This record gives sequence, structure tokens and C-alpha cells, in this order.
Amino acid sequence: MSSTLFRTKKVEQSIRDTEEPEHALRKSLSALDLTVFGVGVIIGTGIFVLTGTVAKNNAGPAVALAFVAAGVACGLAALCYAEFASTVPVAGSAYTFSYASLGELPAWIIGWDLVLEFALGTAVVAVGWSGYIASLLDNAGWHLPEALSGREGAHGFGFDILAAALVLVLTAILVVGTKLSARVTTFVVAIKVTVVLTVIVAGLFFVKGDNYKPFIPKSQTVEAGGSLKAPLIQLMFGWAPSNFGVMGIFTAASVVFFAFIGFDVVATAAEETRNPQRDMPRGILGSLVICTTLYVAVSIVVTGMEHYTKLSVDAPLADAFKATGHPWFAGFISFGAAVGLTTVCMILLLGQTRVFFAMSRDGLLPRFFSHVHPRFKTPHRPTILLGVIIAIVAGFTSLSELAELVNIGTLFAFIVVAIGVIILRNTRPDLPRSFRTPWVPVIPVLSVCASLWLMLNLPAETWLRFGIWMVIGFFVYFLYGRSHSRLARGEEA
Ligand code: ALA
Repeated sequence: MSSTLFRTKKVEQSIRDTEEPEHALRKSLSALDLTVFGVGVIIGTGIFVLTGTVAKNNAGPAVALAFVAAGVACGLAALCYAEFASTVPVAGSAYTFSYASLGELPAWIIGWDLVLEFALGTAVVAVGWSGYIASLLDNAGWHLPEALSGREGAHGFGFDILAAALVLVLTAILVVGTKLSARVTTFVVAIKVTVVLTVIVAGLFFVKGDNYKPFIPKSQTVEAGGSLKAPLIQLMFGWAPSNFGVMGIFTAASVVFFAFIGFDVVATAAEETRNPQRDMPRGILGSLVICTTLYVAVSIVVTGMEHYTKLSVDAPLADAFKATGHPWFAGFISFGAAVGLTTVCMILLLGQTRVFFAMSRDGLLPRFFSHVHPRFKTPHRPTILLGVIIAIVAGFTSLSELAELVNIGTLFAFIVVAIGVIILRNTRPDLPRSFRTPWVPVIPVLSVCASLWLMLNLPAETWLRFGIWMVIGFFVYFLYGRSHSRLARGEEA
């Protein structure tokens, strides 16, 4: 039995599968497209919303250090992702990588985990987007009925109609084709980067040195003692749960980690890349470097413009300008954020459908979902199914807890990928690797430690929810995937 659970799919087989005409995606993306995709999905709710929340609640001006810590963890993971994506250029990201290295059950676990990450990530960002649009509409004097704005504070029934509508429109765009969506993305990314650069350059003129005092606020004990809301690490060691101080920076890092999610999505588009061996590593590492630099700069500027205790938690970048008496800048930033979040949502949705597609092509989910559209060459069936489900989830849920759940799922995937790099180096040293992770196994081991550390800084209840999702996944695998797996059938034949 254990041999079937850990059966691996040959890398050559994965690549051959992508060449079957009925199941083939169009290869049209370049390194630039991938970088734009990366920046398009990375810069989003994390920098536009979470910066203010964590500066105020967990880290003070040291939120910049939290971005550095999360960026380092992601950089280590990116070095591992880049090797895998350039070696196994097949749709499905960490799922495909694990199938080639760790075996079917670990691959299933990771695929199931990625479905959680991308689906909930899409929903989280859609809800954040709807908040910005609602506030712009409010400015224009238009107010949505409470029951249709779905925001916290709604009494009784609340459905976020804007968030759901966004997901459905994006689903339609993705059904029509990746190339079209990449073009739309390029335009939107340009607006988003302009807004971020505006915050950095214009904001510099309003920075006051006093706002940086203290840069790392003194640690404060919080009331959450022993409850599931405290970071797991604090419960494990029986520490009094605290905010700020050095531990506060790590708590903040495990939350702002959300701001980096997305570079791994670039890897999911490997199969649609013209020259994956060369372009994948460029796309992944390039987008990560650009975003980390922008995040650190933005957080330094914003915490310098306004004292961290006064930062807004809904729209911190825009409100920092309002506080300095420049509402015009604030409006421009809100508009850019709303436009920018659109692409984040779209690319998360894209990543999600590609993982689902890859899993169904392997028979772990019904094969019905792995037929591409005869004309558009896109996996239209999973795109439509998941788009509708996510639209409903986005309509009914609120943000913060879901974001933490997305983080834990993603960090878990990073760990599996890092371990996979080491294993594949040993089991398939012969495979051509145009990008090789430096210092194996040191970098992958450091990547595992960094990701695990951030996971441990997430609340215990997040771990619990993650565990429940995984248990459901085990049931689905043992009741369906294990017997329907194409690999299993091939072995039987
Ligand atoms: N990194 C993306 C964001 O911050 C998911 O919204």
C-alpha cells in the first residue's frame, strides 16, 4: 500500500501529457509576461491594507522589518520554486513538482492545499476590492443597501454583491484566454506600480523623524492568554502572548506574508510559457525582488508620515495622505488600489483553475475537468465551476481569518517544494535543470526553517482550521483519487 501512496509520476510523463492535443494549453507567455503576472498578483491587499493593521497592532514602524523577514522567507522559497518550475514546466505548480518527487499522496495533499490557498485568496482579495469600490462610491454619493454590501456590521443577511460580481466577470475573462488576460494585466499593473511609486516619492516630503520613535515599540502583554487566538509558538512554550517587541515583528511577518503570495502562482503558468527553462526563474525572482523593494520603501514612508498608533486599518496608504491634508492624493491612491486588486484576484483565480486542471488530468479529480475549450484552449470547465463557488464564498465571508488560513496553506506548500528539490536532485540527477538552486541542501533547509517559523507565528485556531481542511482532503483522496489516478491505472495495465 505504501508503494502506491508514494508512487511518483515521471517528469517525462508529465511533459508528454501536456502534449496531448485535447489537454494542451497554448504556450504564449514570455519572461516579461511572467514578471508582469507576478507583480500583478503580488502587490495587493497585503501592502494596501495589511501594512496599517500590523503597524498599529503588532510591530509599529518596524513593520518594514517584518516585510524584510517575510521577503527573506519568500526569497528562499523562490530559489526552490525556480529550480522546480524550470525542470518540470507543467501546469499545477507545487502539485506537479511533488508528484514528480515525493509521490502521489504528498502531491494530492499539496494540490488540495493549493486549492485552499488560491480559492480563499481570491475571495479575500475580492472582498478587499469591494471595500475600496464601496468607499469610492460613497465619495460619489452612491450608497449600496446594507444587505448587498456584505461588510462587517451588516445586520442579518449580508451578501457582498460587488465581490461576487468581480469574481464572475474575471471568470469570464479567463475562459476566453490567458493571452487576453495577460494584456489586461499589463495595463493594470502599470497603474498599480505608478500608485505605489507615488506613495513612496510624494510621501517622502511628509515624513517626520519623530514618527519613528520608538522604531520597535516595547513588547506589550495581551489578554489572549491560552486562547486559540494566540500564535501557536507562544502557546507551545507557554509564553505570555504579546504584541510589539521583537516577537511582534515575527507575528507581523506571518501576517504581511500575505503581501508576497503570488510569486508561486507564476510557477503555475510554466506550461503556458514559451521558454520555461530560461523565463521561469527570471519571472519568479524578478517579480519578488521588485515587490520586496517597493514594500519596504512604502512601509518606511507611511510609518514616517503618520505615527503608527494613528494609522488607518482600512486604507492606510490613502489615509496617511488625508492626514497630511492631501485628499486628492488619497483619492488617486484609492482608485489605483481598487484597479490593482482586480489583477491580484484574476491571477489567483487563474492559478487555482490550473492546479485543479492538472489534478483532474492526472485522474485524481474527475477527468471531465481536464478537457480544454476547443477554440480558446483554456480549461473552461474548472474555471467556471470554481469561479461560481468562489463568487459565493466571497459574497458571504469577511477578511482577516481567511487571510491567515491562506498564509498557512501557502507556507506549507513552500516546505513541500523545498524538500522536493532535495529529493529530486537525488532521485533524478540526470534531468536538465536550466536554473539550479544554489547551495543545495543548505538553501532548501533554510527555506523549510523560515517557512515553519512563520507558520508557528500564526494563531492556533488557524492551525486547527487548516487541519480540518486537510482531513477532508484525505477522505476525498481515499474515496476517489487513489482508485481513479491515471498512474494507478497505468500500473494495473
Ligand atoms: N499578495 C497578494 C496581496 O497582497 C495576494 O493581495
